[in-house]
Amino acid sequence: MEIIVADVNGFCGGVKRAVKMAFDNAKEGVYSYGDLVHNEIVVKDLEDKGVKKIDDTDVYDSKVIIRSHGVHKKILDKLEENNNEIINCVCPKVEKIYNIVENFYKKGYNIVIVGNYNHPEVIGINSHCNDSATVISDLEDIKIPDGKIVVVSQTTNNVEFFEKAINIIKDISKDEVLVYNTICNATFKRQESIRSLSKKVDAVLVFGGKKSSNTKKLAEIAKLNCKNVFLIQSIKDIDLNIFKKFNKIGITAGASTPESVIKEAVCRMENFDKGEMMEAIDNSFKRI
Ligand code: F3S
Repeated sequence: MEIIVADVNGFCGGVKRAVKMAFDNAKEGVYSYGDLVHNEIVVKDLEDKGVKKIDDTDVYDSKVIIRSHGVHKKILDKLEENNNEIINCVCPKVEKIYNIVENFYKKGYNIVIVGNYNHPEVIGINSHCNDSATVISDLEDIKIPDGKIVVVSQTTNNVEFFEKAINIIKDISKDEVLVYNTICNATFKRQESIRSLSKKVDAVLVFGGKKSSNTKKLAEIAKLNCKNVFLIQSIKDIDLNIFKKFNKIGITAGASTPESVIKEAVCRMENFDKGEMMEAIDNSFKRI
């Protein structure tokens, strides 16, 4: 069995920065508003180190981390009103979208976001134009507002989906359409990497959190070229005997998945028929 790891995978710059900031502040006790990143292994590890997750704004006089994909402005305002010190871990690439949206909203443009309506990042972006944006999550039956529009994308969007949406918008719009492709380069590179790898292997393992949008996109892309795609959080979630029938297996991971998850996977897959090795491997991969 040959294992090939995608050349670009795992933690992106924004997630690395957020996780480091969280660990740096963990000792003094700190809250994270929602999951810092969409990866349960990372969230659990942070919790063990002293980063407590909260899902509401009922916290006072404390330090609160704002996650890499951002929050609605109202949440930030409320946390500040409650005299909390904000540790802003919002990825600079998401902040850049806030600026575009705010700027054009002030100039009278309608804002269109191509992305998942319920995703926290999209909710946060939309809050920078008074929740007035049109969100396009589906290519069927796209409706856009009258007047001039500015289109941005959720950072983790599938590039092909975004391009298709733009073509439709341009076809149906009677006014000016300005497009900002705000898909993050880290997302784009991970997608291109798995697109090419999935053509050369018999099975693909995609590692990432259940709620991770960019991880799901990687699995969707892999499925276009390979019929055996498995999306899991950890190599322990799958029976390794499944892979006996495959010659070449490709591995990738979403932008919020630590490198140790892939290293552990490769280690276990290479040694899965050597029972005594497994305990040693388990012990060496307990932390991110
Ligand atoms: Fe930022 Fe891109 Fe990562 S937007 S959080 S660097 S996927």
